Amino acid sequence: MPTPSLFFSGLLALSAGLPSLAAPSYGSTDPCAKIGGQTFVAPADAIACQKSFPLNETIKANVLNNIARVFDFFTFEDYYLHSPYPFQESTTNIRRDIARINATKYATDYDLNKDIYDFTTELNDGHTRWFPDCYNSYQNLLPTPVVILGNEVVVAPDAVEFLSLMPPEFAQYYANIGFNWQRLAGARILRIDGLPAFSYVDKIASTVSGNYLDHGVRVNSVVSSYRISGTSFSQRFGDLAGPSFLTQTHLTFELIPVNSTRPETVNVPYLANFVGNPFTDGPSYWANNCAAKNTTNGVDHRSASHTKRDGKPLRPMAKIIDLAPKTAVGLPGPFLPTLSPVNGSEGVIKSFILPDNKTGVMFVGSFEPDDYVGFQTDTVAAISQFQAANVTHLIIDLTNNGGGYVCLGLFLHQYLAGMGIGYAGFQSTNRANPLAKKILASDIAQGLNDQVSYYTADDFAFLNNTEMPASYNYFEPSSSEFVNGKSDPTSQRFYDVCTPYNVPVPDGPAFDLKNVAIVGNGNCASTCALFSTLMYERHGTKMAMFGGKPGEHVEFKGMAGNQVLEWADLDSEIKTAGLKDDPLAPPDLLVSSNMRVNWRTAWSWLDETKPIAFKSELPQYHFPYTIDTYNNPQNLWTFAAKELFGAGHGYGY
Ligand SMILES: *[C@@H]1O[C@H](CO)[C@@H](O)[C@H](O)[C@H]1NC(C)=O
Ligand SMILES: *[C@@H]1O[C@H](CO)[C@@H](O)[C@H](O)[C@H]1NC(C)=O
Ligand SMILES: *[C@@H]1O[C@H](CO)[C@@H](O)[C@H](O)[C@H]1NC(C)=O
Ligand SMILES: *[C@@H]1O[C@H](CO)[C@@H](O)[C@H](O)[C@H]1NC(C)=O
Ligand SMILES: *[C@@H]1O[C@H](CO)[C@@H](O)[C@H](O)[C@H]1NC(C)=O
Ligand SMILES: *[C@@H]1O[C@H](CO)[C@@H](O)[C@H](O)[C@H]1NC(C)=O
Ligand SMILES: *[C@@H]1O[C@H](CO)[C@@H](O)[C@H](O)[C@H]1NC(C)=O
Ligand SMILES: *[C@@H]1O[C@H](CO)[C@@H](O)[C@H](O)[C@H]1NC(C)=O
Repeated sequence: MPTPSLFFSGLLALSAGLPSLAAPSYGSTDPCAKIGGQTFVAPADAIACQKSFPLNETIKANVLNNIARVFDFFTFEDYYLHSPYPFQESTTNIRRDIARINATKYATDYDLNKDIYDFTTELNDGHTRWFPDCYNSYQNLLPTPVVILGNEVVVAPDAVEFLSLMPPEFAQYYANIGFNWQRLAGARILRIDGLPAFSYVDKIASTVSGNYLDHGVRVNSVVSSYRISGTSFSQRFGDLAGPSFLTQTHLTFELIPVNSTRPETVNVPYLANFVGNPFTDGPSYWANNCAAKNTTNGVDHRSASHTKRDGKPLRPMAKIIDLAPKTAVGLPGPFLPTLSPVNGSEGVIKSFILPDNKTGVMFVGSFEPDDYVGFQTDTVAAISQFQAANVTHLIIDLTNNGGGYVCLGLFLHQYLAGMGIGYAGFQSTNRANPLAKKILASDIAQGLNDQVSYYTADDFAFLNNTEMPASYNYFEPSSSEFVNGKSDPTSQRFYDVCTPYNVPVPDGPAFDLKNVAIVGNGNCASTCALFSTLMYERHGTKMAMFGGKPGEHVEFKGMAGNQVLEWADLDSEIKTAGLKDDPLAPPDLLVSSNMRVNWRTAWSWLDETKPIAFKSELPQYHFPYTIDTYNNPQNLWTFAAKELFGAGHGYGY
C-alpha cells in the first residue's frame, strides 16, 4: 500500500548565472528580493512581487495576438454565444472579451494576466485556458479547507490529520503568528466573506473553478476531496482553500466550532506556497518564471534536431491541467483503504475486492500514466484477478480523474465491453478554419505523416473504421455546421485510431455490463468524460455521483471536449507545415505561458448533432457526501455497492 506521502516541488537551491532579460530594475525596494528563496510566504508579499512588473505594451500586444489567433482553432467558440441549458452560465462573446482586454489600460503585467486568466477560466472549459507561469508560481493555501456534508458547509473534519502531512514550515507559520487553525476542524460554516456559505461556494465555482461546464461539477472542485495524485492516494485542498492565482490574503468565516454553540467570526490567513522556479530578486523572478523558455513555443519537426519522438506516433491527449497537484498532500493514513490491493495497483489504477467477495473496485485516478502500456497490463491484471476470484460486480471510481491519453479511455471501454462492440470511441471533427486548411494541405504536399503531425489524416479513420491515408484531405469538402446562427466549417467526421492495443482484448465483455457502475464527483475530465459517456451512452452503465449542493444536480462528466493542443503543440503544427509566416499564424509568445485549446469535438452517440460536451446527461443516482465517505474511498465504495447492487436506492432523478 502507498503510505501517506508528500510530493513537493518548488523549494530547491537558487540558480546562478541568470540571463539578462528585460525586466524593471530596482533600487533597495525590490519586493521580490524580500521573499526570494522562501517556500512559504505571506500572500501579500508574494503579490507585491508579482505586481512589481509594470505593463509592457509589446508583451500585451504579443499575448493578445497569440490568444486571438489560437481561438480560431477552438472548436466550441460559437457555442459560447448562447451556451445551451444547463450550461448557460458560460455564455459570452469571446471576440468581444478579447477586444475589451485589448482596449483596457492596465498598470501592471499582473493585472493584464489576471484579466485574461479570469476570462478564460470563466469559459469553464479546462481545455481552453491561459496559464501564465509568472502568476501560477504560488498556490495560496488555507488551513481550513471546506467540504459539504449533507446540508452544511463545514471545515474539513480531517483538517488536522490532512495538514499535518504538509512540510513543518506550514504549521510553524501559523504557530508563529499565533493562529490556532486546529480548533476549527469540523466547524459549521455560516458565512464566508459576508456571504451565506453556499453562496460563497457558488461564487468560487463561478469565478475560480474553471475546468468544467457544469456548475454542480465545479461546486465539487471548490471543496476538498480524495484523489490519486501521481500513483498515490491524496487529498485535494479544493479551489476555495487552494487557488493558483494569488489574490487573497485571508478569508473571513462566521462559524461555530465543534463543541460550541456560539457563532464567531474568524479571519483565516492564507499562506502562499512557492511552486515556481527559484529566484533571488525581481530580475531573476522575471527571467526564471515569466520570460519565454525554450519550450514555450513549438518547434519545426522537419528539422534534424527536432525529428520525431523515437519513431513513435504522437499520442492524442485530452486532459485538464489542475495546478493543484503542485501541492500534493497524501490522504491521511486513517482514511486509506484497509483492503489489500489486487494485482496491477502500482500505477494510476488502484484495485480491490470488497469484503462481500462479489464486488471488484477499480479506482482509475488518471488516464495519463507514466507507462502507457503499463496502464493496459494493469487493467488486465486486475480484471484477471477479479475473474479468478469470481467477482461478478464492478465499481469504477473516477473521482478527480483529469483525463490523459484518448486511446487509454477507448482501451478501458473496449476491455470492459469486448472487441465485439467494434469501434470503442466517438465520431470526431476539428475546425476547418483557413489556417487549419492550409496546414493540412501543406502537410500533404510535403508528404508528412502522423510521426510529425497531429493534423495528418493517418491519425484518424473513416467511419468504416479503416485508417485514412496520410495524403487524405478531410477538409475537402468540409462540412458546414451552423452554431448559434454562425457558420462554423468543420472537418469531415472521423474516428480515432487506437488499435491494435498493446494487450490482447477478449471478444466479449469482462463482466455482465449491467453489473458495472461508475462512481465519482463529476470532476472527470476529457478522456475520463469520454470514457464515462461511452459507458453510459452505449451500455446504460449506472452512474452514481456524490456531492454538489443539496438539491442541485451534478452531471456525471466534467469537461468532455476531445483532443487538446497545448500552445506549443499547436505552434509545432504550424511550424512543421512551414506556415509560421502566414498572417493568420499566432506569434511566438514572449512570456512563459500556455494558451491551450480544445482542438477536436467528440459527438454524442445518442444525438450525433451534439458535441457530448454540451449534451446534458445526468447520473441515475446522486448522493451527498457524509462524514464517512467524503475522504474515505473504501467507505464510499462499500456504500455504493450496497446502494447500486443491493436493495437500496439513492435519491435519483
Ligand atoms: C517590453 O518587453 C519587450 C519584450 O520582452 C522588451 O524587449 C522591452 O525592452 C520591454 N520594454 C520595457 C520598457 O521594459
Ligand atoms: C488591439 O488593438 C490594436 C489597436 O486598435 C489593434 O491594432 C490590434 O489588432 C488589436 N489586437 C487584437 C488581438 O485584437
Ligand atoms: C469535543 O468534545 C468531545 C467530547 O468531550 C471531545 O472528545 C472532542 O475532542 C472535542 N472536540 C474538539 C474539537 O474540541
Ligand atoms: C532548454 O533549456 C534547458 C535549460 O535551460 C536546457 O537544459 C535544454 O537543453 C534546452 N533545450 C533545448 C531544446 O534547447
Ligand atoms: C470472502 O473471502 C474470504 C477469503 O476467502 C473469506 O474469509 C470470507 O469469509 C469471504 N466473505 C464472504 C462474505 O463470503
Ligand atoms: C498476481 O500477479 C502475480 C505475478 O504476476 C501472479 O503470479 C498471480 O497469479 C497473480 N494473481 C492473481 C490472483 O491473478
Ligand atoms: C469460483 O467459482 C468456481 C466455479 O464455481 C469454483 O470452482 C471456484 O472455487 C471459485 N473460486 C473462488 C476463489 O471462490
Ligand atoms: C472505407 O471508407 C472509405 C471512404 O469512404 C473508402 O474509401 C474505403 O474503401 C472503405 N473501406 C472499406 C474497407 O470499406
